Amino acid sequence: MARSTTHRPYISSRAAALHGNSLGELFLLARERGAIDLALGTPGYPEPATDIIEAAHEAMRAGRNQYDHPSGDLLLRERIAEGLTAPTDAQTELTVTVGATEALCVALLATVEPGDEVVLLDPGYEQFRAAITLAGAIPRFVPLRAPDWRFDPADLEAAFTSRTRAVLLNSPGNPTGRVLERQELDRIAGLAERWDVTVICDEVYSSFVFDGRVSTSIAAVPGLAERSIVVGSLSKSFAISGWRLGFLRADAVRTEALRRVHEITTNGAAVPLQVAVGLAALSADLRTANEEMGRRRDLALEIFTGMGMKIAPAEGGCFLFADVSPLTGGAMDSRAFALELLDTAGVLVVPGGPCFADPARGEQYVRIAFNRQVELLSEVERRIRAARPAD
Ligand SMILES: Cc1ncc(COP(=O)(O)O)c(C=O)c1O
Repeated sequence: MARSTTHRPYISSRAAALHGNSLGELFLLARERGAIDLALGTPGYPEPATDIIEAAHEAMRAGRNQYDHPSGDLLLRERIAEGLTAPTDAQTELTVTVGATEALCVALLATVEPGDEVVLLDPGYEQFRAAITLAGAIPRFVPLRAPDWRFDPADLEAAFTSRTRAVLLNSPGNPTGRVLERQELDRIAGLAERWDVTVICDEVYSSFVFDGRVSTSIAAVPGLAERSIVVGSLSKSFAISGWRLGFLRADAVRTEALRRVHEITTNGAAVPLQVAVGLAALSADLRTANEEMGRRRDLALEIFTGMGMKIAPAEGGCFLFADVSPLTGGAMDSRAFALELLDTAGVLVVPGGPCFADPARGEQYVRIAFNRQVELLSEVERRIRAARPAD
């Protein structure tokens, strides 16, 4: 008689430690109810340029459908280099990746050993912790303090030890909207030099900075430049997040290592799409897109502060990180608040808990994406007003 066995697959501890998307259930509910999604960073604004789309068709028709140089289309790399604030050699210092998502994993895999520590700011982009875990490293969090989401220099200094191998930054930041200032970067540079570590900065929102600010790339800061890896993306600036195009910018020695890892992870991003952006990107007007994004930030601020939330205006990026405690009186956690907003107004926002190392610190916050069409934001305003008749 055949013995029945239940096969339990072995799952590596690195994979088992990943939690998956914390928004899954909320998204299903939101979709069922036809809610407006202000949760994801998926661009609703700007629109992808029609000439990029035409150029992609053209590249496919012209036969650019096979493997090509894993480091990326050279014309695209040259275009990316032209858009960076730090002088960059497209041949030796840039690698095109499958989004910033691959870039981040490659940067970590090429930099850290299992068991090394990576210093990062908290709250932050949920995927950072997951990517550090996947690389076998250990996150060391530096708390950012509300309401303006700055770090205390003493906390930063305390996070560095002899086991620190890298610092992982994000500016403009998700979810806080902070743009790290030169003084903050100089402080990080001092510690990075003292402990001789690599500084990785996710600069995917660098095209969007408001109120006359400039986004300083770590590749342009003395003390950081020589030990930097910049993670970039075309997802947000060109509103082509589904094309999965990102990049890594680092010195030639680091770039050689990054490219070796990239050849194993993906061996290159979609060729015709790279060719298309390389040919057409010059026509995209990023300055106008930045001004327009600032308008949307103002509109979203007006809507949600009008509703009673407390919000420090985002300095850059495409998110507001809003304190909802004036509305809940602390009687409801951020998930319950998000569910209530979904129920009453049909608007989906992200509960703040998963953005924090200790989710309890995020219970009074929600993240709101404002990279949307003005008409959509106006509809959000209408729905919220209707759900909360002048209270
Ligand atoms: C901070 C940050 N980094 C990276 C990404 C993902 O970028 P990509 O689409 O290039 O993989 C996102 C997406 O929302 C993000 O917010």
